[in-house]
Amino acid sequence: MKPLFITFEGPEGAGKSTQVTRLAAALAGAGVPHLLTREPGGTPLGTTVREVLLDPALTIDPFPEFLLYSASRAQLVAEVIRPALKRGETVVCDRYSDSSLAYQGAGRGLPEALLRDLTREATGGLRPDLTVLLDLDPAVGLQRAAARGQPDRLEQADLAFHTRVRQGFLALAAEEPARFLVLDATQTPDQLASSIWIALEGRLN
Ligand SMILES: Nc1ncnc2c1ncn2[C@@H]1O[C@H](COP(=O)(O)OP(=O)(O)OP(=O)(O)O)[C@@H](O)[C@H]1O
Ligand SMILES: [Mg+2]
Repeated sequence: MKPLFITFEGPEGAGKSTQVTRLAAALAGAGVPHLLTREPGGTPLGTTVREVLLDPALTIDPFPEFLLYSASRAQLVAEVIRPALKRGETVVCDRYSDSSLAYQGAGRGLPEALLRDLTREATGGLRPDLTVLLDLDPAVGLQRAAARGQPDRLEQADLAFHTRVRQGFLALAAEEPARFLVLDATQTPDQLASSIWIALEGRLN
């Protein structure tokens, strides 16, 4: 069985972390060796960068914002993801490079070709085998996230920004229908987990 690299994408509060946890339980139940990680974060460097990126007190311009995400991602790929895949573990990552294309590209307006070039360098060209896009009206997602407490720096951005991000994700999915599984994130967690497991079983075997 070939280890897979699976990523979860979607707006704030779409249910990514919920589904990553559910998938980990399903993989464990099926005896599939796996590793869970997230972006930004997943390494000591990434965790430090994450605190900077989410700090509501900081102003960060779009390009340095992209570079900070890329720094976290480059370290995560080198230190965690590639070694795990090499050990034969399926890797599940909560956000990956599609988030940079959607947020810093479609959302902030940085040129997509530049983001793609730098991302290729940062990741050594590592791309997911499967990307689950949890698609949701950003107003609903922000409401869900707000129920958790103080908004972080990105949750504070305006609705027009989050709407561009959503369209960005959908455009990426339309470009690569074989890689993306797009799900309506207003479904229940059980329904989503079941659709994800069905899509994955086909790929694991
Ligand atoms: N399918 C769902 N339907 C309704 N509520 C959900 C669903 N999935 C998760 N939630 C709830 O929505 C909130 C956000 O979920 P979660 O943290 O999994 O989203 P996320 O995509 O990881 O968010 P973030 O982008 O902020 O990390 C939580 O309170 C969670 O319990
Ligand atoms: Mg989350």
